[in-house]
Amino acid sequence: MTKWTRAHTNIALIKYWGKENEQLIIPKNNSLSLTLDAFYTDTQVDFDDSLSEDLLILDGVEQDTASLKKVQRVLNEVRRQAGIESKARVESINHVPTAAGLASSASGLAALAGAASYAAGLSLNKEELSKLARIGSGSACRSIFGGFAEWVKGTDHDSSFAVPVDDAKWDIGMLFIVVNDAKKEVSSREGMKRTVETSPFYEGWLQSLDADLSAIKEAIKGKSVEKVGEIAERNALKMHATTLGANPPFTYWTSESMKAMDAVRELRKRGFTAYFTMDAGPNVKVICRQSELEQIKYYLLTSFSESQLIEAKPGPGLYLLD
Ligand code: ADP
Ligand code: DP6
Repeated sequence: MTKWTRAHTNIALIKYWGKENEQLIIPKNNSLSLTLDAFYTDTQVDFDDSLSEDLLILDGVEQDTASLKKVQRVLNEVRRQAGIESKARVESINHVPTAAGLASSASGLAALAGAASYAAGLSLNKEELSKLARIGSGSACRSIFGGFAEWVKGTDHDSSFAVPVDDAKWDIGMLFIVVNDAKKEVSSREGMKRTVETSPFYEGWLQSLDADLSAIKEAIKGKSVEKVGEIAERNALKMHATTLGANPPFTYWTSESMKAMDAVRELRKRGFTAYFTMDAGPNVKVICRQSELEQIKYYLLTSFSESQLIEAKPGPGLYLLD
């Protein structure tokens, strides 16, 4: 039994940055994201007795053992739950640049959780799928859901999963400014580990999170793009500040990211509701009103090319393709 499964990327507005338990991927803090329609992964899995090892074929290319490792954590858990031993052939297509800070790990591992559990004959509910995706890559647990989702950190495998917060069927959108879609030098996994272990700013980051989380949930309830954007922008800047305090220090920003952030500030001066967030990469995401996406893109075309600007609306949760 095999079926293509689709999961969309999600972008965190309150970031997950640091693990309490690296083995199980239990985070230090709750995070909250918006799943988007523009970027996604399609994956299918085939458990096949004739295979002597697991295979991951991403965009037609067989992947190295590092990528296979994340995938195998999910496959092994599925095999354990289904009581099977067969190796698997995983075929995946990313409609998102891989490892560029555009959340391919979120859509990739969420799609895998759906496809692998289906192929093994398990019928998991969304909470179970979220836990399964989480052990592949933390942020993936939020891509099981559409709209806004919160990853409740929990304390062990069974209590750490995402829950839906709001379907986001209102006037909110996101515009991606892709300044570089090449593979980044410091992965999110390595970056957050180094920060937790060495950055003196990390404690300050953690202490500020409860306030950010409750404020953004209020803002979502009130459907206020302005407040959501303002809180998300501050939260992202705090996260990125922790990396400068790490040893050795690092940053995901480039001069092009700074240019994009300045452009967003300029948009605000011109009366648009526009805020930015950034992840483990140089690309900038503009949080804005869906109804202003076109005009914002038009303004940004003065500094960036058409191919660098990608409009996104809230997207759906995980689903099987017919
Ligand atoms: P990103 O910003 O794209 O999420 P990360 O460094 O966090 O970057 O994660 C990228 C890694 O996620 C890849 O190197 C690979 O190991 C894994 N990954 C990405 N897409 C897929 C996929 N479709 N299937 C399986 N694993 C994937
Ligand atoms: C900055 O989920 O990619 O995008 O759990 O180690 O696989 P692992 O990390 P990952 O980290 C995402 C970090 C982030 C913030 C976020 O998405 O919340």
